[in-house]
Amino acid sequence: MVEQKIITINPLIYGQDLLNLNDQLKWQIAFAVSDLLKQHQGHMLQFNGYQLVEKFINPGLAVAMWDYQNKTLMAFAKNAPWPGANEYGQQVLEFGSWITAPGYENKGIGTLMAKAAAITANCFDPNSQLIAVCAGDNTKPIDVLKKLGAIETEKPSNVQILLGEGQAKVIVLDMSHLNL
Ligand SMILES: CC(C)(COP(=O)(O)OP(=O)(O)OC[C@H]1O[C@@H](n2cnc3c(N)ncnc32)[C@H](O)[C@@H]1OP(=O)(O)O)[C@@H](O)C(=O)NCCC(=O)NCCS
Repeated sequence: MVEQKIITINPLIYGQDLLNLNDQLKWQIAFAVSDLLKQHQGHMLQFNGYQLVEKFINPGLAVAMWDYQNKTLMAFAKNAPWPGANEYGQQVLEFGSWITAPGYENKGIGTLMAKAAAITANCFDPNSQLIAVCAGDNTKPIDVLKKLGAIETEKPSNVQILLGEGQAKVIVLDMSHLNL
């Protein structure tokens, strides 16, 4: 009888584990995210691979899903800390660069990434406010986040709306209390 060995590698990589990845994979993830963001210029802020690694992956503020079999990025998200504090003295983290690669959409991966990012935000600062700023006409992410328990809120006072340099109609969602 042939013994079968099944090796499973968890494709979901959380904050701290992401920064401890080998450099090659870390950079592959960052550049793949940067390329995907370019396909959504109207709806998403743009970051290059170096910015993603230095500002978000290395500080443990990102989550990724990597297909080890096909060696390709499945999904990514990060939390960006805003300087200062909101009206209630809380640190504000902005969930963003939330993207599922073509071919992996509508399989529940985006939902999983939003939950993983909320857990990562809670580990980073359990008293923080987690928000998402979405272009108002980008209905799918808004619907997915609302289904998870995010609620529309006012812009926290220390946050600037960078999307569309203040021109785009945006919706601010509070993700601090998602149904995980
Ligand atoms: C938003 C995004 C990350 C979601 O990823 P995903 O892996 O497809 O998400 P999920 O599979 O978890 O959720 C899919 C849900 O959206 C619903 N959906 C699909 N198309 C939709 C649409 N056009 N409008 C509203 N909801 C839609 C599906 O029915 C499904 O709902 P269900 O869970 O009740 O069945 C992905 O669509 C994406 O990368 N979009 C482009 C980048 C982007 O706009 N990012 C957000 C910036 S704020």
